[in-house]
Amino acid sequence: MLIYEGKGKKLYQAEQSGYVLAEFKDDLTAFNALKKGEERGKGELNCLISQVLFELLQTHGIETHYIKLVENHIMLCKKMKMIPLEVVVRNIATGSLSKRLGIDEGRPLPFALVEFYYKDDKLGDPLLNDEHCLILGAVKSQEVLETLRESGKKINTILSEYFLEKDLVLVDFKLEFGFDEQGEIVLGDELSPDNLRLWDKHTGKKLDKDVFRQDLGDVKSAYEEVLGRIKGERK
Ligand code: TMP
Ligand code: ASP
Repeated sequence: MLIYEGKGKKLYQAEQSGYVLAEFKDDLTAFNALKKGEERGKGELNCLISQVLFELLQTHGIETHYIKLVENHIMLCKKMKMIPLEVVVRNIATGSLSKRLGIDEGRPLPFALVEFYYKDDKLGDPLLNDEHCLILGAVKSQEVLETLRESGKKINTILSEYFLEKDLVLVDFKLEFGFDEQGEIVLGDELSPDNLRLWDKHTGKKLDKDVFRQDLGDVKSAYEEVLGRIKGERK
C-alpha cells in the first residue's frame, strides 16, 4: 500500500508494522519542480549511494531509518513521524546562500553553517530562524533544534572526511529527521547527489544535481561517478 509519494521517492507500508519500503524514483525536479526531468537508473544510483552513506553513519553511532536494501532501488526503513524541516549544512558558499547573501560561489565558510528550511512546497520551502521553527510548531522545543544542529554538524564531519578520501569535496547537503516509534530523533530521507553537493577535489567538476539544475551535462554519468568512487572502483 502506497502511503506517501514525494518528488524523489514513494513510500509503501512494509509487511511488518513500523517499517516502510522506500522506492527511489527516476524523476528529477529542481526549483520547486518548475524544472522536471527523468533519468533512467537515477533512482537505483541514489538508493545504492544512500545505502553506503547510511551504513557509514551507523558505524559512527548516528541513528538512521535505514534497515536494509531490498532491491537496488528499494530500501527497508523504519517508519517515522517526520519533522517538517530541511536541515541544510554548508561548508562552501554556493546555491541559494550565494544568491541571497552575495557571497562568492566557491568561497569556503569560516565554520559549518546549519540552516533550517520549512518543508512546504506552497511557500517555496522558506528559510527559518529558531523562533520561526517554534512559532510554526515545526518542533516542540529549542532543545530539538539544538539536537538537529549538533547532529547535522557531526554528520558533516563524518561525511566530509569520507568524501575527501574519494577526492570529493562535500560542499553542502540537506538532511531530514523524524521521530521513530520510541520517540528518538532519527535521520531519515536519503543521502544522494540529489541532496548533497559534491565537487571533484582537483577539477572542481560538479557531480550532483547541479548538473541537472544548470544543464552541465550528463546527470547519470555524474551520479555513476560518485557511486564508483565510493565503491572504490576508480582508476
Ligand atoms: P540551496 O543552495 O539550493 O539552498 O541547497 C542547499 C543544499 O540542499 C544542496 O545540497 C541541495 C539541497 N537541497 C535539497 O536537497 N532539496 C531542496 O529542495 C533544496 C532547495 C536544496
Ligand atoms: N528538490 C527541489 C525540487 O524538486 C529543489 C531542488 O532540489 O533544486 O524542486
